[in-house]
Amino acid sequence: MTQPRKSSSKLNRYIGAGLVLAALAGPAVAASLKSVMGSMGDNTASAKAVLANFDGKAAEQVLRRYAADAAAADAMFAGQGSAKERDLHARFSRMAVIAGTASQQTQDKASFRKAFVAVAAECKSCHTAYK
Ligand code: HEC
Repeated sequence: MTQPRKSSSKLNRYIGAGLVLAALAGPAVAASLKSVMGSMGDNTASAKAVLANFDGKAAEQVLRRYAADAAAADAMFAGQGSAKERDLHARFSRMAVIAGTASQQTQDKASFRKAFVAVAAECKSCHTAYK
């Protein structure tokens, strides 16, 4: 850093350095759990819309997004030590496998409903424990 920009105070520069470090640590770490959860919430609205008006391609996309979000959350807790972190890691891994496996199978309304119920059970059980 050479010339601090007009608006940047010392504090802003510290925050900036923190953001750079977060970015270097990788997108999965930089994204907060809260933001991933927001995405899972949005995706659940999409899942309900797909159930109301079934579309196989949209069903596959919903399952892929659950799997990707679960994998992103999983990465945040990989290699961490506390019992809670290890449990979150195991739970998000399991959710990623459930959604990822289902996304690779052709979906009809019944199979999609089943996959959605299985994924929603993971949301519910983890929220009961930690939210
Ligand atoms: C392995 C644990 C786990 C799983 C699985 C999980 N969540 Fe969460 N969720 C959390 C935790 C922990 C929080 C609280 C995060 C915080 O406030 O920082 C949370 C918070 C949320 C929030 C509130 C976010 C906010 O802005 O405050 C929503 C919405 C949410 N989860 C949706 C879902 C949905 C939908 C699923 C399943 C598709 C799901 N979650 C699966 C652990 C989980």
